Amino acid sequence: MRLLSVRLIVSLILGVTLVSLLSSYYEVRAEKRGLRRELELRAEVLAESLAGNVEPYLDGRSLKQLQQIVGRFSNREHLVGVAVLNTKLEPVAASAGLAQQVEIRSLAIPQVVVDNKKESQFLRRAGKAKHIYILPLHRNDQVVGELIVVHDANYIDAQTARVWRETFLRVLIQVVLIALITLLIVRWSIAGPIARAAQWMKSLRTSRVGSVRSAMPDLDLLRPLAREMETLAESLAVARSAVEKEAQLREAGESIWTAERLAVHVRGKLAGGQLFVVSNREPYSHIRRGNSVQAVVPASGLVTALQPVLCACDGTWVAHGSGDADLETVDEHDRLRVPPEEPRYTLRRVWLTKEQEEGYYYGFANEGLWPLCHIAHTRPMFRMSDWEHYRQANVRFAKAVLEEMAGTDQPVLLVQDYHFALLPRLVKEKRPDARVALFWHIPWPNPETFGICPWQRELLEGLLGADLIGFHIQSHCTNFLQTVDRTLESRIDWEHFAVNREDHRTALKPFPIGVDFTTDLRAHREQNIYMERISLLQEAGVEALFLGVGVDRVDYTKGILERFLAIERMLEKYPLYREKFTFVQIGAPSRTHIKRYHDFLADVEAESERINWRFRTVKWKPIIFLNRQHSHTEIERYYRAADVCLVTSLHDGMNLVAKEFVAARDDEQGVLILSRFTGAARELRDAVLVNPYDIERTADAIRYSLEMEPEERSARMQRMRKTVKEGNIYRWAGNLIGDLCEVRLKNPADPRAVAQVAPLPRA
Ligand code: G6P
Repeated sequence: MRLLSVRLIVSLILGVTLVSLLSSYYEVRAEKRGLRRELELRAEVLAESLAGNVEPYLDGRSLKQLQQIVGRFSNREHLVGVAVLNTKLEPVAASAGLAQQVEIRSLAIPQVVVDNKKESQFLRRAGKAKHIYILPLHRNDQVVGELIVVHDANYIDAQTARVWRETFLRVLIQVVLIALITLLIVRWSIAGPIARAAQWMKSLRTSRVGSVRSAMPDLDLLRPLAREMETLAESLAVARSAVEKEAQLREAGESIWTAERLAVHVRGKLAGGQLFVVSNREPYSHIRRGNSVQAVVPASGLVTALQPVLCACDGTWVAHGSGDADLETVDEHDRLRVPPEEPRYTLRRVWLTKEQEEGYYYGFANEGLWPLCHIAHTRPMFRMSDWEHYRQANVRFAKAVLEEMAGTDQPVLLVQDYHFALLPRLVKEKRPDARVALFWHIPWPNPETFGICPWQRELLEGLLGADLIGFHIQSHCTNFLQTVDRTLESRIDWEHFAVNREDHRTALKPFPIGVDFTTDLRAHREQNIYMERISLLQEAGVEALFLGVGVDRVDYTKGILERFLAIERMLEKYPLYREKFTFVQIGAPSRTHIKRYHDFLADVEAESERINWRFRTVKWKPIIFLNRQHSHTEIERYYRAADVCLVTSLHDGMNLVAKEFVAARDDEQGVLILSRFTGAARELRDAVLVNPYDIERTADAIRYSLEMEPEERSARMQRMRKTVKEGNIYRWAGNLIGDLCEVRLKNPADPRAVAQVAPLPRA
C-alpha cells in the first residue's frame, strides 16, 4: 500500500509540475512578447515626434537649439536617452547622461542612412538589456543623419523573472496540496476499507464454524467488490460447515445424509447419466403482482421435498407452468434455471389448455384419484372426459420428458405422484434404456377401494411401466401389490415385493420421505422464543399465554374441522385455558376451483367464526385462521414459537408439516400432536398420537401437551429430531435413486428395443 501511495504521489507531482511549467512557459513568452511590442511602439511614437522637432535644426548652424530640444527628452519612463547623429554617424546632439551610459557611436546603424529605413533592435550592453529605435532624419528630402532613441529593457527581464517566481510558488503549493489530498483519499477510501476487509476476511478464516459471523464492514468505494466478497464468504461458510458436519458425522460413526453426500452419491450412481424429475406442481411459479413478476414457491409437500434434492444434484425438472407470468420467464425451449437467486438446476415448463387442466388436474387427479386414495369420506368423481384429459396430459408430459432426455445416455427419471400414473409406461416404451421410478406421495388404498375406479387396469398398466415404485410406508406397498394381484394377469413376487408382467419387472419399496434438516441453527438460537410468541400473538391481535399452530393446505383430508372441534372441546372441558390458549391455523388456499374445496374453505371459516364467537373476549380469541400462502420463513417463526403443533390429517401419505415442525425446534421444546393416520406417525413415535375423529381424546391431548413437563417435552423432541435428522430428504433421494440405479435393464443397448416401439399416442 505504501509503495502504491509513493508511486501515486510521485506521478501526480511530476504530472502537475510538468503541466504547470509548460503553461507558465507559454504565459511568460506571451507576456514578454507583449512588453517588447509595447516598448517598440512607445519608442516609435517618441522617435517620430522628436524627428519632427529636430529636423528644422539640422542645417549645421543651430546646434544649440538642437541640443536644447534633445535635452528635454531625458526623464521619460525607461528612457535612457536620445541622440542625433550626422551622416558620418558622429553624435551632433545627445540627451544628458546618455554618453556616460553607452558609447553613442556604437549604437548607430549605417544601413539606416544608406537605405533610408527605420530600425528597431533589442540588444545587450555591459550586461544590461537595451532597446534602440533608429529613424533616418531628413532635410529637403535628403537623409542628413539619424535619430537614436534608447530605452532600458531590463524591466522586461525583471517582469519575466517575477512571473517565473510566482509560477514556481504556485506549483509548489499545488503539489503539496495534491499530495496531501491524495494521501488522505488513499487512506480513507482505499487503504482503510482494504484493511477493514482484510481484517474481516481474516476473522472469517480464523473463526470457528458455527460461531456468529461478524457483519461485513462498510467498504465505501469498494462496494461492488464487497458484494462479491460477501457471496464468497457465504459459500466459504457453507463449505466449511459441510466439511465440519461430515467430519463430526465420521467421528460419531453416524451415516447422516447431507446435500454434499447426496450429490457425490448420485453422481457416482448416475455414472455420467442425467437426472430427470417430472411432477405436476412446479417448484417456482411466476406470478404477476402489479407491474412486477414474483417467483413464488407453491404450498406442496412434494415441492418442499424435491427442491433440495434437485439443488444438490442438478438435473431437469419437468412440470406444469401454472403461473400467470410463467410464459414470460422461460427461454425458447420453455426452460429456465432455478432457484432464481442461485440457479442450480433446470425447470422445463409444460403448458396445458384450460380444458386440459380442468379435466386432468382438477377433474381426474383431484376429484377422482385424490379422494379415492385418501379415506376421508369424500366421494370420488370419475368422468369419461376427465379420464381422456388425464390420458392426454400424461402423453404431453411424456413428450416433454423425452425431448429433455434426447441425446442423453441411460437417463434416470423420477416420476412424481398420482398425476402421472400412465407416464412411466409411455416413457419406458420410447426409452427402454431409461431407468424409471414413480413415487406415489399419497396413500394407496386397499384393492376394494381402488377397485371402484373405472380405469384401474389402465392406471396399473401405466404404473407398471416403471422399474421401481415407491410409497411412504410398507402397508401402501402391500395394498398396491394386492390391487395388482386382483386386477391384472401378473406374477407377484411376494418375497421380494415385485410384479413380473410381460417380461418386465417392477420393484416396490417404502421410501419414507423427509425434510431438509439443515436449518441455520445460529440464527435461531439467538432468538427469545417467549418474546417471539408474544409478538406473533400481538400481530394476530390477541393476548394469550400459549400458542398452538397448524399449517396445511385447506384440504378436507387434513382434519382441520376436527382440530377446531377438539380445541372447542378443550376450552369447554378446561376453562382455565380460556383467554390463555390461541390456535393459529395457517391455511394455504388450495384447489379452490373444485366445489368440495370451495365449500370446505367456507366450512373452515364458519367453524372458526362460530367457536370464536362462543369464547372470544375483548383481547382474546381461540382461533386465528390465516387463509393465505405463507413463505417458509414466515411459517418457521410459528413453528419455533408454538407450544404445540397440531397435525390431525384424516389420512395422509406422510405429512411433512410434522417433520418440518420437529426440524425447526432446535430448542428441543414444543409438542407435536400427530394423527395416527399419517405416514409420519410410523416414524415419530414420540409425538402425542391421536385419532382426529376422537374429539374428546384429541381435546385431552392438547391439554396434556400444554401441561407436559419440560424434561419430557425435551426428551420426546430430542428423539424425534434424531429420527427426522436421520431420515432426511437426502436419505430419501439417495435411497430412491440408489435403488433405481441398481435395477438391471433388459438389454438397454439393443437399438431394436427402441425401434420396435410404436409412436406416442396423440396428446
Ligand atoms: C400433495 C400431493 C402433491 C401436491 C400437493 C399440493 O402433497 O402429493 O403432489 O403437489 O399436495 O397440491 P397441488 O394440487 O396444489 O399441487
